Amino acid sequence: MTDIKKSGNFLVSKEELEKQTEYSELVKTVISSRFSTENPKAFVHTYGCQGNVSDGERIKGMLEEMGYEFTDDVSQADLVLYNTCAIREHAEDRVFGNIGALKQYKKAKPHMIIALCGCMMQQQHIADRIYKSFPYVNLLFGTHVIHKLPELLYRVLCTKKRVFDITDSDGVIAEGLPVHRDGRFKAWLPIMYGCNNFCSYCIVPYVRGRERSRDFDTIVNEAKHLVAQGYKEITLLGQNVNSYNRDKGSEYNFPALLRAINAIEGDFIIRFMTSHPKDCTTELLDTMAQCDKVAKHLHLPVQSGNDKVLEEMNRKYTREKYLSLIRYAYKLMPELSITSDIIVGFPGEQYDEFKDTLSLIDEVKYTSLYTFIFSPRKGTKAYSMPDPVSREEKGRWFKELTDLQEQIAGRRTAGMKDKVYRVLCEEKAKAEGVLSGRTEGNIIIEFCGNENLIGSFVNVKVTECRTWIVRGEMC
Ligand code: 5AD
Ligand code: SF4
Repeated sequence: MTDIKKSGNFLVSKEELEKQTEYSELVKTVISSRFSTENPKAFVHTYGCQGNVSDGERIKGMLEEMGYEFTDDVSQADLVLYNTCAIREHAEDRVFGNIGALKQYKKAKPHMIIALCGCMMQQQHIADRIYKSFPYVNLLFGTHVIHKLPELLYRVLCTKKRVFDITDSDGVIAEGLPVHRDGRFKAWLPIMYGCNNFCSYCIVPYVRGRERSRDFDTIVNEAKHLVAQGYKEITLLGQNVNSYNRDKGSEYNFPALLRAINAIEGDFIIRFMTSHPKDCTTELLDTMAQCDKVAKHLHLPVQSGNDKVLEEMNRKYTREKYLSLIRYAYKLMPELSITSDIIVGFPGEQYDEFKDTLSLIDEVKYTSLYTFIFSPRKGTKAYSMPDPVSREEKGRWFKELTDLQEQIAGRRTAGMKDKVYRVLCEEKAKAEGVLSGRTEGNIIIEFCGNENLIGSFVNVKVTECRTWIVRGEMC
């Protein structure tokens, strides 16, 4: 039976979800007969982006329902699950290393179930390699069958056979899965899944399927529920939140969603990520400016400041279009904090073209940047593009970029001195009696305070500025 109607209705059917609930009960029965004295323990580790972290919370929710408890100690685990990321080669290498290291644990504890899922596993060549080279992996499943975890796990438990399921599809939406949230006051709220953009370097559209938006009212109700539970920060997630509901042709677009969530009563802030510049509209920026609960922080990945490179990347905007959005945004919100992603050394990029990225970051004055050296991803267009510049050379460009950004960030944070910021207290800092939090602009700020303030908002006056972090006093 297929879960997806190609008409654009990606919802997993009620019958399928009920079937999974039945499997969940079956797993519970099986494991309670095998672990009679205490509940079995699961070690779950998620790599990569917030979207993956949010999937991880659903996976943990399902495991909890099946009777598992969680542990941070692999050697104590009866089930180890890695929720993996495929965005760069380095991320995949780390996972391979960690799977290799599991062999000794499995030897010491033969009943241990080893399970792998996430973007990396959705690739056929990776699943094949795992099958051949890591015979002790019991379960591997892709991004489109997460909701089937109870059924897949039941098959592993009962047949003792290896279960591999990387069903390819345009993707699904499984509503109503249980969620085990890791945070007490910060929550992830996915609003859409998948990506249609096929940037030439990126693996995501191949492993996450097409764009599909969750129902507007379902999201708003989930946000209301989170606020009622005491969550203080809600981050709306999607690969490209700006195209929310475009797949459905609905007028209830992303700005409308922001307004609806902003209207929920309560003391909380709204963040969102990621925005694609090609779909970032003045309506979105106007909405950010008007909505008091929307953090004045915009993550707007530019990737490159050169038009030729942007075209080769298939980004569908120009440097000028990007800069005009930034100018509009700063005019509306002079205090706006803007962050971005940059790729250095895209295949064929020349040093002169890279210098356009340097001049762009100097013009935008980003708060911070996520910078990456291009990593070839099998199956993408850029994978087979000629790439003559050496890794060492790209490394030098990378250093030039990060040095420049450090100066810009230093000047930006220096401008915060003596100003007062509303801060969400997040955790204890390293030093005794010091708390760490974030401003609306996502800048880390440390200040003296009692730990019972963690999870609440306080006003902090900045007294000392470092490049990436500021210190202050509560007022
Ligand atoms: N190589 C390097 N960086 C990449 N990113 C995505 N794909 C690649 C790749 N193949 C970066 C982009 C994206 C961020 C999430 O990861 O900058 O915005
Ligand atoms: Fe990848 Fe581009 Fe989609 Fe972002 S918008 S997930 S970079 S293809």
